[in-house]
Amino acid sequence: MAKQHVVTTLNGNSVEFLCDTHQTLLEVLRDELHLTGTKEGCGTGDCGACSITLNGRLVCSCLTLGVEAQGKSVETIEGMSNGENLHVLQRKFLEHAALQCGICTPGVLVAARSLLERNSDPTETEVRFWLAGNLCRCTGYNKIVEAVLDAAKEMRGA
Ligand code: FES
Ligand code: FES
Repeated sequence: MAKQHVVTTLNGNSVEFLCDTHQTLLEVLRDELHLTGTKEGCGTGDCGACSITLNGRLVCSCLTLGVEAQGKSVETIEGMSNGENLHVLQRKFLEHAALQCGICTPGVLVAARSLLERNSDPTETEVRFWLAGNLCRCTGYNKIVEAVLDAAKEMRGA
């Protein structure tokens, strides 16, 4: 079957690509657009390593087709910093050493940003609940939660 022509907005920029109808958005991002920050952990929607936002909604890119990006806005980890300036969450993850192997980290950061966009003052329980779909094989969850809470505090100007 002929490849599909898709026009989307990726991290604020208009992007076009060709993809097969069965290709996942994760495959398109990594293999066609060479944005390898989004990771594949399971490929079955269980680990959250491939988390991105599609029109502001947190989704697993391994469960989303590339053609679904047509006319939508896609945000990946590559769009999180402002050039050399890290997003507060990224800075707090470094300060709190909230990552080990780093495979889960892009997905956790994208998910955490999505949480803080909806809830600027989450409780620890709310952070843990929101990030429950993001598995970290290194089990560094406490530092991740501390970093998210600290980022939220700084973003509130508290
Ligand atoms: S790679 Fe998509 S949820 Fe694991
Ligand atoms: S830092 Fe290794 S899986 Fe999370």
